[in-house]
Amino acid sequence: MSQTLRDDDGVSNPSANPDLHQVVERAVAANPERRRLMKAGLGAAAVSFFAGEAALAATAKPAVKAAEKMIGFDAVATSTGDAVIVPPGYSASPFIPWGEPINAAGPAFKADATNTAAEQEKQLGDNHDGMAFFGFDPAGKAFGGRSDEGLLVLNHEYINPEYFYAPGSDAANWLLPFSLEKARKGQAAHGVSVVHVRRNAKGQWEHVKASRFNRRIHGNTPITLQGPAAGHDLVKTAADSAGTTVLGTLNNCGNGRTPWGTYLTCEENFNGYFGWNGEHKPTDLENRYGISKDGFGYLWHTVDARFDVNATPNEPNRFGWVVEIDPFNPDAKPVKRTALGRFKHENAELVIAPSGHAVVYMGCDERGEYVYKFVSAGKFDRKNPTSAANRKLLEQGTLYVARFDAGATAGDRMGTGEWIPLVHGQNGLTAANGFASQADIAIRARQAADRVGATMMDRPEWVAANPKKPGEVFVTLTNNNRRGSNPPSSIKPDGSTVAGSARPPVDEANPRSNNSWGHIVRWNEAGGDGAATRFEWDIFVMAGQPGTGGERAPTANIDTGNIFNSPDGLAFDDFGRLWIQTDGSYAHTGDFAGMGNNQMLVADPVTKEIRRFLVGPSGCEITGITWTPDRRTMFINVQHPGEIGNHPAAPYRNDGKAYTDNDIARDPTRFSQWPVPGMRPRAATVIVTRDDGGVIGG
Ligand code: FEO
Ligand code: CA
Ligand code: CA
Repeated sequence: MSQTLRDDDGVSNPSANPDLHQVVERAVAANPERRRLMKAGLGAAAVSFFAGEAALAATAKPAVKAAEKMIGFDAVATSTGDAVIVPPGYSASPFIPWGEPINAAGPAFKADATNTAAEQEKQLGDNHDGMAFFGFDPAGKAFGGRSDEGLLVLNHEYINPEYFYAPGSDAANWLLPFSLEKARKGQAAHGVSVVHVRRNAKGQWEHVKASRFNRRIHGNTPITLQGPAAGHDLVKTAADSAGTTVLGTLNNCGNGRTPWGTYLTCEENFNGYFGWNGEHKPTDLENRYGISKDGFGYLWHTVDARFDVNATPNEPNRFGWVVEIDPFNPDAKPVKRTALGRFKHENAELVIAPSGHAVVYMGCDERGEYVYKFVSAGKFDRKNPTSAANRKLLEQGTLYVARFDAGATAGDRMGTGEWIPLVHGQNGLTAANGFASQADIAIRARQAADRVGATMMDRPEWVAANPKKPGEVFVTLTNNNRRGSNPPSSIKPDGSTVAGSARPPVDEANPRSNNSWGHIVRWNEAGGDGAATRFEWDIFVMAGQPGTGGERAPTANIDTGNIFNSPDGLAFDDFGRLWIQTDGSYAHTGDFAGMGNNQMLVADPVTKEIRRFLVGPSGCEITGITWTPDRRTMFINVQHPGEIGNHPAAPYRNDGKAYTDNDIARDPTRFSQWPVPGMRPRAATVIVTRDDGGVIGG
């Protein structure tokens, strides 16, 4: 970042910070044409900001008690436009985009992306992902069941450097020269935000900025390491010789929530931030978790020794965990729960099994990785949900990994399965095989799972448990183009396989050699008990193009009206609707013809009907989903709007070449201007309401 472009010393008057509503209004005032654009798109959304009358009426007069339908809305068509589209009768409003001040003292977002690292620490992070709404109690002080006020807690997964940093002085690479200040700014945009939200007298949601609950947790926030891995040699560093306090949480992807009122944030592609300077021969452990010389190109390791594995070899072992946060206690240190294992965590779906154990289902998102679950040692006290004992349930328990077997009949794409415990001394997890302790197994969970013969899946993403059918659980398998090569190569049981490199043969649960569209697998735990070790599984949907035959054929619940690819986010609402969010190709051609931008759909888990509910703006993914307890407000996230990729509206230079990151960094409004017309694209939450005040989806 060029010093001339930076305004580190700018003093902002917090009370004068424009919020998103004001920015939208100013944009419209400057160019009334934008109002039309908003109505067409950004839109449906922003318009509801101003549709106070309808919202107020809805609040004052709850909807008539019609029977709630499982899928009670008209499907929306696909789109390649730069707008959020929802069904007729619904409104969608963008909210708390990247860079908004986290509280009344936070600095305003600078449209040219010149906010400093110190400023970013006091603003919403980037690339919103998993999210949960926690209603307040009647007193407005603690966890409760209110639907009009609460804490919206959300993940910030990563940054898009082309939009995140104002261009530096190097004409060929906007990121250069890179600096520690830039690394710190990036770190500050990761992690989690806790946002106090309230529905005001007009029925509109607002960010309560003068609240002590607003909080940022980012890439340098002190976090306690708890559980079997805490204090192990593999997590000790020069800066933390005890191996018990980590700085930061990174690549916060999906999430979970607990019935005792805490939030779970899941560390996914942490490997991308690490690299090395000079020479280095990666260990099996580094290879198995994908640590590489330059990581994903963030350059942090070039300026911050913590991310150079030559300087700080154990730092990567301190990431890849599920982190528990108490949003109602802003002073409480977050805790990395190492009993839940270290891998590339997508989300953490927690249910209380009939036996009383807390069960956490988790996917490890990479080609050929596994599905896990944790079963707590203790039991949930249903009479005292927020008791001190309940708050310790994630401290101890058993980690399992799934094996999906063909079952009684070969080739029918259903079967049986087993949860294999990853417990020291069992199933070959012994010192003789390189596993010295339970701590070792927690830190090297992928390698432990290799040893016990878990099933390599087509990139496990979110897991969702059906609230209406105990023991029924779904997982999105987003896509995988590395299966069934000739000759196939399976994972090595000694844990030395390089992450994502194996090309296993197809199996019944992952039946495509080229699974470019993805699928959703469902299982039912034996006896409906999440603590069981056996299950039966089948395939809920194979995504794809209707009319395709052979192994690539989609299932019968896919038609031209609901096509999608790459299911990722997945969650049930309390009524039992299954919401499916996509993060896939928006090329809108070839395999992906007619699928448009990334989207969100609703499925009936019994009939398997699937209907499209929402389409996102250009280049985004849709992810993160939560509801107020009354289900009359739904919050979702639009992540990385404006990612050019292979979008049909991708910009081209005058010389006919496609825009590179360096080009878009210098022309950041060229492709997408979502959610604020005239400004660079920014990840944001979207508030979805029904114009008649009814429940969402019904
Ligand atoms: Fe962060 Fe696998 O999505
Ligand atoms: Ca079978
Ligand atoms: Ca995801």
